[in-house]
Amino acid sequence: MTGQNNKPIPDWETLTFSLTETDFMYRSLGNTGRDPVWDEGAYIPFEDIMISPAAALMSYGVGVFEGLKAQRTTGGKILLFRPDANGRRMQNSAERLMMPPFPTEQFVESCAELVRRNEHFVPPPEYGSLYLRPMQHAIEPQLGLGPCSQFATHIFCSPVGSYFRGGSPRGVRLKVLEQGRVAPGGTGSAKSMGNYAGAIWVAQQWKDQGFDDVLYLDAHHLKYLTETSGSNPFVLLRSGVLVTPPLDSQILPGITRDSTLRIARELLNLDVEERALSIQEVIEDGVEMFCTGTAWTLLSVRELVYNDQVKQLETEDLRGKLLKVLRDIQTGDREDPFDWIREV
Ligand code: COI
Repeated sequence: MTGQNNKPIPDWETLTFSLTETDFMYRSLGNTGRDPVWDEGAYIPFEDIMISPAAALMSYGVGVFEGLKAQRTTGGKILLFRPDANGRRMQNSAERLMMPPFPTEQFVESCAELVRRNEHFVPPPEYGSLYLRPMQHAIEPQLGLGPCSQFATHIFCSPVGSYFRGGSPRGVRLKVLEQGRVAPGGTGSAKSMGNYAGAIWVAQQWKDQGFDDVLYLDAHHLKYLTETSGSNPFVLLRSGVLVTPPLDSQILPGITRDSTLRIARELLNLDVEERALSIQEVIEDGVEMFCTGTAWTLLSVRELVYNDQVKQLETEDLRGKLLKVLRDIQTGDREDPFDWIREV
């Protein structure tokens, strides 16, 4: 197998959330004029890809992506976390951008096989995980704006450590923006590339001033919490209720968000609500806050700044309990009652 053992293994001690090239990536080509649309794909050395400058991806951003992790267990197995959920979400995202859905079974199997082929890049359990980045985009040369018929799905992977390692010691500091992340009715509930491209400049203005990220309010009322640049917020209120904003066209249906909700409700028997949560309610009644995402995992928020109001959040006990259960399921240290784990 060409490529195997060619790329250097990184120093596990210094892993961050940054790219380490691995030996293999996966590619499948799709054409809506064919049945089945998608070919079976191939595992090829990680390398630059060739694409027409006229591909709709290049001008119009016709592309979506995913993020999921594989974890090594203390017993030496490798476990993928909810790859089927990522596969389904990529289908939903693709359909929003008028791309043909990539079959979920093929998605799960190609993720598993890609991990097997890059097995030596999966860090030891205490150092991090192997992050998989599936992507689907339009490839045919086409000048005008309209539906496409030729597509590619790629999956590459990289060993990663914490998203904010070296950053804030106890949780993140967020600037609350009176601004929507995406337009209502737009592509916010799809993991479309453009949503993230637009967020980089916005967040950087505040990162330059010492914030870790921004928290967007809803585009209609500029009042209710939606997302950060790439994670879903949860707030524990004084009443003991854990609240997260309900899914709508401005919010990505996070898989870690869903996993947290299920653990909170079904394993920890917490009082949980998915409902509109105003920034004023958080400032007046919030006692703990954290954000969830595949890359972020569950990260405490230690401070929110909203106009001239500063909200400090002192505790992170609940986040600690939820993260422990989630991690234990992901590393096989706790029974998985939800059928989330796929051994590769
Ligand atoms: C993830 O959490 O996997 C994402 O795709 C978010 C990205 C900003 C890193």
